[in-house]
Amino acid sequence: MNLDHVGVVVTDLEDAIALYTSVFGMRVTHRAGNEQLGIVAAFLEMGGAEVELIAPTRSDSMVSKFLADRGPGLHHLAYAVPDIREALADAKSRGLELIDEEPRIGLHGVPIAFIHPKSVGGVLTELVEHG
Ligand code: CO
Repeated sequence: MNLDHVGVVVTDLEDAIALYTSVFGMRVTHRAGNEQLGIVAAFLEMGGAEVELIAPTRSDSMVSKFLADRGPGLHHLAYAVPDIREALADAKSRGLELIDEEPRIGLHGVPIAFIHPKSVGGVLTELVEHG
């Protein structure tokens, strides 16, 4: 299993992109949004993995709630798996609590699913299928 990306919640996406590209020399590879979730995101390349910068587009977004509760910062780790249904079934069989019982299509257009942080030592964990 490889690290796919690190999710970071930010208050202003363009400010965060400017920081990561200028200070760390990263390059934006992909931008996406999900109006239903009220988020916009940018993926930046760093070696074999990416940083996913996530900002809210409205006040009732789950990311707005995260910002209100904890402020900007680390949000989730995402691991690449070859078969997400198999990985979810395995996690469930080990007693982990799944946020997404069924995979859904993520911002990269591939199946993703989240595992509850309380099952992973406080770390919100995303699985990303890269078959
Ligand atoms: Co993610």
